[in-house]
Amino acid sequence: MKSNQPIGVFDSGVGGISIWKEIVKLLPIEDTIYLADSKNAPYGQKSRQEIIDLSVKNTELLLSKGCKIIVVACNTATTNAIDFLRDNYKVPFIGIEPAIKPAALQTKTNAIGILATQGTLSSELFHSTSKKFAEGIKVVEQVGEGLVPLVESGKMDTPEMLYLLNKYLYPMLDEHIDYLVLGCSHYPFLIPQIRKIVGDKVTIIDSGYAVAKQTRAILKKENLLVKEKSSAFHQLYTNADVSILKDIAKDFNKNSTINYLDF
Ligand code: DGL
Repeated sequence: MKSNQPIGVFDSGVGGISIWKEIVKLLPIEDTIYLADSKNAPYGQKSRQEIIDLSVKNTELLLSKGCKIIVVACNTATTNAIDFLRDNYKVPFIGIEPAIKPAALQTKTNAIGILATQGTLSSELFHSTSKKFAEGIKVVEQVGEGLVPLVESGKMDTPEMLYLLNKYLYPMLDEHIDYLVLGCSHYPFLIPQIRKIVGDKVTIIDSGYAVAKQTRAILKKENLLVKEKSSAFHQLYTNADVSILKDIAKDFNKNSTINYLDF
């Protein structure tokens, strides 16, 4: 691997842009390649083997484009497939998991909420993390069924979205949660809508910045941080509607190309 190769990032769709943005902010001279596998979204209801197969497909494409590190910007793919990827490829992988630890350490009501996909909440990795860090704390788990397809179709501010968020979040408020962990990379795009429901007494946590910091730490450790460059170039690809990806990534379209690719 050479330090001037790009950072590869993939997600089941546009959600991982919430992570990619943090990486671009923290590492402004690194080139990146982003894959939105929106054609196969949502991953959250698929079997573990299907999630592994899709993660392998995305990894192979990023490697064929010369990536030096791969960020799995998807909780569902991380919790189900990252061990397989690490066992089978030499490139370093960074994953994203629901941020249970900071929520469990800081809760004052002793109750935290986790909104994530079925695939994440039923994974072994999630169970072991939850057991390790949230012993003695009430963890209100909720599958965010239906949220990802709405984000994927750009329907963030719609009655359907509000209906689902109300249905998922009110039971958590009834349990007096003071921390809400967003365990899916699509959900940070819903923070304005979530905030209206939970008010300002609940702290909302997502893992985007932590993933960017970990990416920088591993690149540094492997001596792969790019040197002597003044700007970066970003290639974003989707295998579905380009306009949705363009809209989601709109604040970051300087030095970027956003294109359709069949993968
Ligand atoms: N964005 C993904 C995650 O972080 C997966 C959503 C899905 O495809 O179900 O879990």
